[in-house]
Amino acid sequence: MSAAEDQAEVQRLLRAMLDPANRADPYPIYDQIRVLGPMRLPEANLAVFARYPDCEQVLRHPSSSNDRLTSTAAQREVAAGAAARPFGQPGFLFLDPPDHTRLRKLAQQAFSPRVVKALEPEIVGLVDELLGRLEPGAEFDLIAELAYPLPVAVICRLLGVPLEDEPRFGAASALLAQGLDPFVAVTGQQSADIEERLAAGKWLRGYLGELVERRRVEPREDLISELIAAEEDGDQLSGEEIVATCNLLFIAGHETTVNLIANAVRALLRHRPHWAALSAEPGRAAAIVEETLRHDPPVQLTSRIAAADLTIGELAVPKGDIMMVLTAAAQRDPAAYDRPAEFDPDRGAIRHLAFGLGPHFCLGAPLARLEATLALSALAAKFPDLRPAAEPSYKPNVTLRGLADLPVIG
Ligand code: HEM
Repeated sequence: MSAAEDQAEVQRLLRAMLDPANRADPYPIYDQIRVLGPMRLPEANLAVFARYPDCEQVLRHPSSSNDRLTSTAAQREVAAGAAARPFGQPGFLFLDPPDHTRLRKLAQQAFSPRVVKALEPEIVGLVDELLGRLEPGAEFDLIAELAYPLPVAVICRLLGVPLEDEPRFGAASALLAQGLDPFVAVTGQQSADIEERLAAGKWLRGYLGELVERRRVEPREDLISELIAAEEDGDQLSGEEIVATCNLLFIAGHETTVNLIANAVRALLRHRPHWAALSAEPGRAAAIVEETLRHDPPVQLTSRIAAADLTIGELAVPKGDIMMVLTAAAQRDPAAYDRPAEFDPDRGAIRHLAFGLGPHFCLGAPLARLEATLALSALAAKFPDLRPAAEPSYKPNVTLRGLADLPVIG
């Protein structure tokens, strides 16, 4: 095929990736994109990477920016009159140094492995409470009963957000998670629900902003109060940055670990001997979590902007291009793994990109691993005969892909 035909094919595959019909199994599409190799779509100012070493290089590259405003596409839109940051102050995931470094450092202490380990008894208590409501032999939705409420309760507790407000903020968080899908990068157009998402974003920031004001008057032992103390202590962050940080942590806490727990259970129920082995030996949960992160990751892709002309593998990427990093595709790269499509928790120590790499490596990784490990081992111990009750359905999300429900019989 000519270069133009290859580009047209990648463009077609990316559109197929956005199509909800392919959400249940996007992996054949990723395989085809990876085989075509790293590709630049000049008209979209977009470069697409799906091989493991290329994705790794983009994430580690010193000229990879996370600030959307550095992209040619965003600069064009702003020049045409669009608002530069319609969703307001970005969370630090979408900032570069020095702001990224400063804000990440302030949130970091609350998520260190030591602090997270100390949460274990509380997480065990939450898992017991949730599983205590379920009877062996009865049908239930694993997402509604365990995979969703567990991480939500934990992040609310850490931030100091009242859990009883969940029905309101859960809906806002779900809408905002869809905003991470590469709709504009692929189609050049905003998705139809942009107004709804803007409204949800405004509402959630208003909600968190009010909470920040309440904690200012009446501090508690939570992360919001700690961030306020840092603000008042020495001008380390602004009020707007506190809200943006809480917003980022809140959404990350809502939309990721749920998919890790559910994807792991789905894989295990498709490979029954692994479920039986976990029921008998709870210590297997950690390896199952790592293999799920590789084989069917909760975050399927990310992106960077080239802050300078650079070269990734053999592809020259001009300054301002968006670099799409298909980590879920890289984690099935046959050059990086034996039998990449196979779910095999016994494959030994594995490298993966499911929590990213480099300066933006997931802050919540120790917490997500602990929650998922505890949830899976307790679930398998209580329900050795767990089995699927019906075919599950997927949420529309491309980037934070996951099941909408997972009906099982206990
Ligand atoms: C299984 C669960 C999770 C997965 C798969 C996951 C995945 C990721 C990935 C891939 C990134 C890097 C994105 C990029 O480089 O563009 C990231 C960043 C981040 N994650 Fe997670 N995450 C999970 C859970 C959590 C939790 C529970 C929290 C905390 C509440 C969290 C907080 C963050 C934050 C704050 C960042 C931004 C770090 C930075 O920019 O320095 N994540 N996560």
